[in-house]
Order: sequence, then structure tokens, then C-alpha cells
Amino acid sequence: MCGIVGYLGNRDAVPVLLSGLRRLEYRGYDSAGMAVIRGNGDLNVHKCKGRVADLEKHIEGKDTAATIGIAHTRWATHGEPNDCNAHPHLSQSGRIALVHNGIIENYRILKEALTEQGYTFRSTTDSEVFVNLIEYIQEANNCSLLEAVQQATKQVVGAYAIAVVDRDNPDQLIAVRQSSPLVIGIGEGEYFISSDAASVIEYTNDFVYLNDGEIALISRNVPVRVTTAENESCRVDISTLQLSISELEKGGYEHFMLKEIFEQPHTLQDCIRGRIDKQTYATVLSGVRDNKEHFLNARRIIIVACGTSWHAALIGKHFIESLCRIPVEVDYASEFRYRKPVIQSDDIVIAVSQSGETADTLAAVNLARKSGAFVYGVCNVVGSSIARATDSGTYIHVGPEIGVASTKAFTGQVTVLLLLAMAISHEKGIAQEDRCKAIAKEMLTLPQKLESTLERVTTEVQSLAKIFTYAHNFIYMGRGVNYPTALEGALKLKEISYIHAEGYPAAEMKHGPIALVDAEMPCVVIATPDATYDKTVSNMEEIKARGGKIVAVVAEEDTIASEIADYVIRVPAVSEYLMPIVVSIPLQLLAYHIAVNKGRDVDKPRNLAKSVTVE
Ligand code: G6P
Repeated sequence: MCGIVGYLGNRDAVPVLLSGLRRLEYRGYDSAGMAVIRGNGDLNVHKCKGRVADLEKHIEGKDTAATIGIAHTRWATHGEPNDCNAHPHLSQSGRIALVHNGIIENYRILKEALTEQGYTFRSTTDSEVFVNLIEYIQEANNCSLLEAVQQATKQVVGAYAIAVVDRDNPDQLIAVRQSSPLVIGIGEGEYFISSDAASVIEYTNDFVYLNDGEIALISRNVPVRVTTAENESCRVDISTLQLSISELEKGGYEHFMLKEIFEQPHTLQDCIRGRIDKQTYATVLSGVRDNKEHFLNARRIIIVACGTSWHAALIGKHFIESLCRIPVEVDYASEFRYRKPVIQSDDIVIAVSQSGETADTLAAVNLARKSGAFVYGVCNVVGSSIARATDSGTYIHVGPEIGVASTKAFTGQVTVLLLLAMAISHEKGIAQEDRCKAIAKEMLTLPQKLESTLERVTTEVQSLAKIFTYAHNFIYMGRGVNYPTALEGALKLKEISYIHAEGYPAAEMKHGPIALVDAEMPCVVIATPDATYDKTVSNMEEIKARGGKIVAVVAEEDTIASEIADYVIRVPAVSEYLMPIVVSIPLQLLAYHIAVNKGRDVDKPRNLAKSVTVE
């Protein structure tokens, strides 16, 4: 949700800001802008509706030379995407510029108060209120910009990250973090600020991760100073982030999503590496081993997540319940946080989040911690807010995921949740040890199986996509662990192709959705070998009897389901526990190719953003 980038140093700021914005575009892409303080003291704002590429065109031919600037790519919350609502916003006098990610909940009251003081507003954003509030406080109290920002943050309610520059002080940048991500990159005599460290990784590997409520004063050639709103000094810890630029590029693929689908054999390997003992096949996760007591005494596990991560969590519930015999509840983080949930000190709350920044999941984590539960994170982004707010956790290590629709992060999350179940089972020493070892042994062969699945199904799925490109509705069905896999398949399709798609537990079909079935309705059925295979086959017969078109995802040697289906996709016959990972490959490809056929913007689907840092 909106990306912020800033620069202060000796280079030309604009190329740094633009390259940062391009890498932050996954956070929102309805408008973009920048403010730079020129050598002659002018504060110039350039902004427009559209993508970062439109901003680049907008500034073409303009003299933008400057060594300090802030920039923004927007995902609209308050006010439609247009040139005026694009950030940065200028204060009334034109002296202060601000970029903002997040929501100011009490902006109406503040706006009324400022209006009474003679302030007028050009945009309909909450952000313009923030910049005018800073200016008002500074002028009323004749104080420094830092003091004004400190005072303003005490009056503003909400979740936000901001960056501020003052025309009269071209050697200073101020950045604030309050429940929205913000990092400071430290270079040689230069500083970067960003919503995501990866966006400036080509300039530095050293970062200061701000905590909530911290305000950074970044001054030319002076070490960064971090304070609270009360002007108390905070510790400034510099962490080194290992990330290569190639991980952030398309590497010859047409879209990031396709690259990320094809990366899965490798990302899976990275995810498993060092976690399964190749001699004994025991699974050991340091997060579980080091907190053994919590896992041994847990009466219940609650998993909180949103979107795709919630689907992974549903699969994780199956793994933990069957391998550890601990009851598991899965909740949407947004529901959990407002439901007044019963959380006990012997509960473990697991937060699953690719970005580690999702506002609702972060709030659920904070609530769980306050209630005394042990909180465990399953995140991808190293150093992210959720990774830091949890007591312990396991990274999925799939590398940066840039396509808005999650693919490799989903299979990484499923893999880590399975490892987690096996590691807990190992620590508990319960009777599932042999089963876990068999799964672990097979898991080691999975990257290779994914490689061959990709090779084999790509062309088949491309042909299928041609047949179904113009369908208006889809139903995805599965049972057990493959019910959430079906939900995820449907979500992929709707996110990027805008075709209506629903996921259902196969047996529920006859309780309603079967009314939708006709010759126009493709039904994707996951019918891989497990205890409910025969039942799923019966559900397929019921669809067939009503003229529905069935695409069945089956195991290599399947004969029964494949005979009923109109179209068949075969995947390797792996254990039931690993099946969601294998089945996801053709489902991701199907969504991808249909979206491409429809001419959709696959990596940046309309209205969506990858990191949802607002409620
Ligand atoms: C957004 C993204 C989804 C993602 C969800 C949760 O909606 O578009 O792909 O699954 O947020 O994100 P998280 O980073 O917490 O996994």
C-alpha cells in the first residue's frame, strides 16, 4: 500500500528515486510523484496519475538536478487516483513536502481545525492534512522541523510512514514510522529511505529498521539520529541485508509471476535447506527447538493470516493436527483482531505473512502477544515488522516475490508449515515419527519433481487456457488439504484474469454451487489419491451428469477420475502432504495463461497491491 523512497547524499537524487519507485511499484501503482530540492533552493514537485513510467515521461526534459528528494507510488485510500491526489503533498506555503503511506484516521477533525486556522486544501487526501499540520505547528511554535514533526505525530491517529523535506533546509530529511514499514539505508555519505529495503539494495546493504513511533532525523554528513515523539533518543542498530539484484529482475521472463512460478524448484530447495537431516530424516527448526517448552505445552495453536497466506494456513492446520495432534484454529487476521478472541497463555499463535507487513496480521500478532500467547512468525521478508514483532519464527526463504499474485511464497509457506508440523512432532517424540521421516525423505526429492512437473504441464496448460479464456465463471474443488489448494487456485484466477472463480470443498457442491453447473461452467477438480478420492470421483460424476465441463488434476497413473474428466492434467504421485505444492503448479499456470490471453496486466492487476499495510 503505497511505496515511499527518499534520498540524501551526493548523487543526482532523481535516478535513485525512480529506480526505488520502480521496485516499490508492487505496493501500489495508481499514481506517482517526487519532490526534490534543487541547488537554487527551489522545492519542485512532479507528480501524475498512472505508473512510475508515466512519471518518468512527465519529468522528461525538465531540469531535476538535486541531491535530496522524496518520492511515492500510490495505492489510493482517501481520494481517487488523479494528479492532484498523487503524492508528494505540499504544505500551504509550499515550503514543506511530504509523502505518506497509510491512513490518518482522525484527518477530518484535524482538517476542520486547520481550516479554521485559514488552511485550504487542494487534494482530498488525508496526507495533505498531515503536511499542513506540521507547518502549522512549526509556525505557531517557531520550532524546528523535527520538533514540529514530533508534535504532529502526537496529534495524528492511524498507521503511517512519512518522509518530509523542507525547502529551507536542503540538508535534512525526516522519516517517521508508525505501523507502516520504513527503513533507512546507510551508504558512504548518503542515506536512503524506503518502504522496502530491497528497493535500494543496489546502493547499500546496510539498513536501520525503524520501530513504531520512531522519528529519524537524517542530515547531510551526520550520523542518523532517531528519537521518539517525546524527543527521547533511540538506539540505532545497523543490520546487513544479503540480497542480489538479479532476484529483483525478470531474468528474461515476460512477467515476474511467470519467473516466480518457474523458480519454485529452487525456492523449495532454499526453503528446505538445512532443516531436514539427510541421514536420519529428522526435521529440526531452530525456532521450535529453542522454544520446545512452548510447543510441548501448547493446548491449542491459532494461525492468523490474510489472502493467500490464509490458504496456506488452512493447509497447515491439516499438517499440525494430523502430525502433532494439537488442535488448530485458522482465522482471518482481520476477523481475529476485532473478535475479542479467547487467547490463553498456553496457546501458540502463528502468523503467516509473505511480506511480514500486512496491517491486520501485524495487529493480530500484537494482540496475541498482549494476551500472553507465544507468537511464532512464518514470513518471507527478512527483518519485516511481523518477523520482528513475533517471539520466534521460521523464514520461508523464497526470495523477493514481486508479482502481486503470490505463487512461490504460497508453496514456501505450505512447505514451512509442513516442516513446522514435523519439527513439533519430532520434539514431542510422538508416534508419527516414521510418517514424518517418510514425508521428509520425499520432500527432499520434491524440487526435482516440481522441475519435471513444470516441464510437462506447461504446454498442456497453455492449450487449456486457450479453451477457457472466455469463461465467465469457474469453480475449483478439492477435499482435505486440497480444499484450500482449490481456494488458492480460484483466488489466483480471479486476481489476475478478473474472471469470477470460487473454491469449494468437493462434497459441498450439492449444497448449493451445483445449481450453477452447466456446459458453460468449467469445474477444476483436484482428484489426487487420498482417503476421499472415491468420494471426489462421485462428485465429478454429479457434475458430469449436469453437463459441466471438468478439468481434473490427477496423479500420473490415475485411471478413474481421468476417464470422467473432459480435460486432464497429470502431476507426480507424491504423498498427500506434498500434493498441495505439486498441484499448485498447474493451477498457477492456468491462471497466468488465461490472464495473458485476456491481455491483463499480470504483475499489477487492477485495484490490488502486494503489501496491504492499511486495514
Ligand atoms: C495481499 C496480496 C496477497 C497476499 C495478502 C496477504 O492481498 O495481494 O497476495 O496473500 O495480501 O499478504 P501477506 O504479505 O501477509 O502474505
